[in-house]
Amino acid sequence: SLRSGRSGSVGLLVLDVTNPFFTEVARGVEDEAAGAGLAVVLLNSAEAQDRQRRNVRLLAEQRAAGAVVMPVDDDLSDLLWLSHQGTSWVALDRGDVAEGVGCSVSVDNHAGGLAAGRHLIGLGHERVTFLTGPFAIEQVRRRHQGLLDAFTESGMDPGAHVRVVEQPLLNPQQGERAVDAVLAGGPRQRPQAVFCANDQLALGLMKGLGRRGLRVPDDISVVGYDNVDLADLVHPGLTTVAQPKYDLGRAAMRLLRSELDDPGHRHERVLFTPELVVRGSTAAYR
Ligand code: RIB
Repeated sequence: SLRSGRSGSVGLLVLDVTNPFFTEVARGVEDEAAGAGLAVVLLNSAEAQDRQRRNVRLLAEQRAAGAVVMPVDDDLSDLLWLSHQGTSWVALDRGDVAEGVGCSVSVDNHAGGLAAGRHLIGLGHERVTFLTGPFAIEQVRRRHQGLLDAFTESGMDPGAHVRVVEQPLLNPQQGERAVDAVLAGGPRQRPQAVFCANDQLALGLMKGLGRRGLRVPDDISVVGYDNVDLADLVHPGLTTVAQPKYDLGRAAMRLLRSELDDPGHRHERVLFTPELVVRGSTAAYR
């Protein structure tokens, strides 16, 4: 039963509604909520802290029963504020920082970065660029650490083999714009492969590389992260680390339901395992 005075709706607060990763998460959240007779209200932070803050205030004002939230960064103060208002929440992709503070559902991001790194090293790539959004978000840092650890376990100093290009946002426009920074230093220092923190960046980067006359994977390999539908629709197909997006949404909503049914419910952390999907955007270094 819902806590008294609360509406029959739950919020789904996403980091960027234009990212198709969230469409599939939303489908899982919605299916699970429908089973409990709860309506899902979608709110978008657009990767901006002030918008996230406005959205959590709206949720509290509307007396939402609870919320599934992917915070814009590792700062959970907006979620703690929600708790004080008596609104339950489950965090997505914040397993480390939400530990002991609230329920979370995430995917093993370190394992994903490690799998991508091993794949590239196995293909003979020794100069790899990590193209990423802000390091202030947990999943990005963990993916990067996984990549570094792949070099270390192969007996290579990651500092000498991995370069980072950090962008302010995780969208395709930023990926395309990053092409200059990725290629900086000329052909001799150019990376042999680029591992992107999500598919959005990777798809934009592939477009940018094409405009520079570079061929993927002949001149440069590209790996993404998420396995959105588009990864299989572009040519060449994008090699990427698949996340169980639908299951993430379902699990988050299931946890939220336990919170709503039993406010004394102990905080749980659910962790899924990602899986590398190899397509045409990666090839052996020649
Ligand atoms: O929201 C940014 C990224 O975090 C998504 O593309 C997905 O990778 C998620 O885990």
